[in-house]
Amino acid sequence: MTDNIEVLISEEEVDRRIKEMAEEISKKYEGKQVHLIGILKGSVFFMCELAKRITVPVTMDFISVSSYGDGTKSSGIVKFNKDLDESIEGKNVVIVEDILDSGRTLSYVVKIMQDRKPASLEVITLLDKPDRRVIPVDLSMTGFVIPDKFIVGYGLDYAQKYRNLPFIGVVSGVE
Ligand code: IMP
Ligand code: MG
Repeated sequence: MTDNIEVLISEEEVDRRIKEMAEEISKKYEGKQVHLIGILKGSVFFMCELAKRITVPVTMDFISVSSYGDGTKSSGIVKFNKDLDESIEGKNVVIVEDILDSGRTLSYVVKIMQDRKPASLEVITLLDKPDRRVIPVDLSMTGFVIPDKFIVGYGLDYAQKYRNLPFIGVVSGVE
């Protein structure tokens, strides 16, 4: 069965915004090195596009956590599936997330990362759905603030599909 997907944010708009975000990060960390931590799998597309445009030295690592099943609602339980490969002690860490929804996933991840003594720690997200926040999360940068709709594309999935769409779309009929 194919789902009906409407474009919410076009490929050009997303690319333009990611370029701006990369410029801001490059300025902020001038003369330093940034360590990007991506949350698998959703943030991979955003993280690659961002990293390509950052002009200061970049290193990268990934974690995998799950708070969602194959449906569209947060279970409230965050499970750590894959930890970092390297220590973040003394590093300028930027956690890169695809979408901030209830905040359960990110608040949990931030708490764990803070305990590991990075030199600095900030959180950025491509998309933010503030209407659905349950636990507050301190964001230093947001790509787009979006309405409470179920989003796919640019790394985001619906039952593991549509991550590869080059734009941000809305699946109709999904809450
Ligand atoms: P939170 O813990 O509720 O903030 O959920 C964050 C995670 O849920 C994100 O990293 C996504 O993987 C997933 N998620 C939240 N909203 C959406 C959506 O609209 N489309 C696809 N995945 C979503
Ligand atoms: Mg995610």
